[in-house]
Amino acid sequence: MSDDALVTIEDMQVHFPIKRGILLDRTVGYVYAVDGVDLRIRRGETYGLVGESGCGKTTLGRALLRLVEPTGGRAVFDGTDLATLTGEQLRTMRRRMQMVFQDPLSSLDPRQTVESLLVEGMRAHGLDNGKDATHRRLKELLAAVGLPASALRRYPHEFSGGQRQRIGIARALAVQPDLIVADEPVSALDVSVQAQVINLLEELQDEFGLTYLVIAHDLAVVRHISDRIGVMYLGSLVEEAGSDELYEQPLHPYTRALLSAIPVPDPVVEDSREQILLAGDLPSPAAPPSGCRFHTRCPWKQETRCATERPVLREIGAGHRVACHHAEDILAGRITRHEVEPELVHPDALPT
Ligand SMILES: Nc1ncnc2c1ncn2[C@@H]1O[C@H](COP(=O)(O)OP(=O)(O)O)[C@@H](O)[C@H]1O
Ligand SMILES: [Mg+2]
Repeated sequence: MSDDALVTIEDMQVHFPIKRGILLDRTVGYVYAVDGVDLRIRRGETYGLVGESGCGKTTLGRALLRLVEPTGGRAVFDGTDLATLTGEQLRTMRRRMQMVFQDPLSSLDPRQTVESLLVEGMRAHGLDNGKDATHRRLKELLAAVGLPASALRRYPHEFSGGQRQRIGIARALAVQPDLIVADEPVSALDVSVQAQVINLLEELQDEFGLTYLVIAHDLAVVRHISDRIGVMYLGSLVEEAGSDELYEQPLHPYTRALLSAIPVPDPVVEDSREQILLAGDLPSPAAPPSGCRFHTRCPWKQETRCATERPVLREIGAGHRVACHHAEDILAGRITRHEVEPELVHPDALPT
């Protein structure tokens, strides 16, 4: 397996202080949004990051681009520790890492034409080389994302959701990045349009040699586009594997529950497949459970280390990592699934 990592994230942590008091000068606790993530993204690959809303996916993406300062750990991009960069160096490096957002309408300034939206980033990085060359480049960009040149003079609200996402993608491409962090790029789109945008992202990857971090709360969305997938739960990775491997042989109880929630079109398969309903809600990242953070909802929880010792992400097969004390036992059927009573969290347990 190639070890040619474009991105290396080591023990990344982002803890947001919870402030109280009239002057907001008292820290009463922390939101452990990202709490110890290790992952590598190889050049040219697509890494899918999935997990329920609030598990820290966006914060991890933002910390990687240093749009939010990590409280611990580090991110290395193409051999450079991003924490060592300041001012101009950081700005230069940022050109190489672009973000595409979930809601194109809120991320595109409504008063700017498509032309000015696209030129903005190019200008900021000195890529607008004269009027004619810039205009040619803009037309190329629009063609690449499947929009007509006439789109240049129009405004974001004149486009459909799918077209707006194409504009958002063109905007990221305009500065010739190496990495695109696509944060829920199709979550706001109709199902029929989702596949078109996913296909476009795949085509552009081949054409421009891009590396992707694709974030989604839905495993079905990332399956086909991703080479590898990481599953996040309450601020850390619980499982990581090649895309097919993860679907065919999910090992972490949380991954199995997520997969069982994806409907299967075939009614016979649908009726016979394993359904794992998770008890209770996602715990607050301000008061994460002890031990394995998933133990409060885990149908395979044992009266052993689950509530006391935090499992590390360990390699269990080639390129397959899982953070579960009992992964082997579950796989071999040595322990069976049981009902989980939703645990009531006493209000005093949460910071006020
Ligand atoms: N700037 C911030 N300040 C305080 N808490 C934040 C901030 N950004 C995100 N959070 C919290 O961090 C947790 C993870 O959020 P986020 O990264 O947006 O999750 P996801 O993208 O997986 O839905 C959530 O509890 C969220 O409320
Ligand atoms: Mg998010």
